[in-house]
Parts: sequence; C-alpha cells; structure tokens
Amino acid sequence: MKRIIMYVFIILSSSCYYDAADLLYPASGVCDTTPTSYSQKVVPLLQQQCYSCHLNASTGGGIMMGTYTADKVLATNGKLYGSISHTAGYSAMPKGGAKMTNCQIAIIKQWIDAGTPAN
Ligand code: HEC
Repeated sequence: MKRIIMYVFIILSSSCYYDAADLLYPASGVCDTTPTSYSQKVVPLLQQQCYSCHLNASTGGGIMMGTYTADKVLATNGKLYGSISHTAGYSAMPKGGAKMTNCQIAIIKQWIDAGTPAN
C-alpha cells in the first residue's frame, strides 16, 4: 500500500504541467525564447499584461486583442512590438503598468520575427 502511494506521488509530481512561471518570473536568469509558440509562450504574457484592457474595445482604446487573428494584426503592423518596447511613435504598453521584462519582450519579438506562427 505504501508503495502504491509512493508511485502515485511520483507520477503526480513528475507529470508535466506547463505553466508560464519562467516567462513571468525569469529569475533564473535564463531567457528561453525557443521554441516559438503563440499559445504556450505569447498568449500567457498577453493574458497577464494586456488582455485585461484589450479584450474590450472600450477599455482598450479601440485596439482589440485576444484572438490569434487580432494579435497577428498588431504584430504584423509593428504596433505590438513598438508599444511593448516603448519605441517613440507608439503608445507605451502595458498602459499604466511596468514595462515588460527584456525576456518577455524577446519572447514576443521572436514570435513576430518567426512570422507569427499559429502554434
Ligand atoms: C490599463 C489598460 C491597458 C493595458 C493593461 C494595456 N493597454 Fe494597450 N492600450 C490601452 C488604451 C486605452 C489604448 C489607446 C490609447 C493609447 O494609445 O494610449 C491602448 C493602445 C494600444 C496600442 C496601440 C498603440 C499605438 O501607438 O497605436 C497597442 C498596440 C496596445 N495598446 C498594445 C498593448 C499591449 C501589447 C499590452 C500589454 C503589454 C497593452 N496594450 C496593455 C489600454 C491598455
């Protein structure tokens, strides 16, 4: 019986559940930008820092995000990267919040540079 419990514990603790902790808190100093993944890497960041306003035209100043198609439009026209990198000529985002970390910006840039794959 003890043995079974131990196996269950091992299985549970080693089951690979992906979360974005390394993206949100890159305290390890390692910035892992590969593989590029919209759903696994880009969406968690946007969800945490952008969708609160941009799922809604009224709170997002008319800029819609939150679907692959909408996010791709902003990625392709340069506004996504311009705003998160605080480039002159773009509104700095997230509005009223701290700039994304260099790692988070690099992850999004890599997705853009890879041609915004829907993966
Ligand atoms: C607190 C609400 C809020 C949050 C959070 C927020 N935005 Fe915005 N965003 C706005 C509003 C309002 C506007 C329109 C007014 C303006 O441009 O400042 C806007 C404008 C933009 C624009 C257009 C900028 C331009 O120069 O044309 C982009 C792109 C954008 N946001 C992306 C983002 C991204 C990416 C994030 C997350 C990193 C984010 N926003 C977070 C409220 C927000």
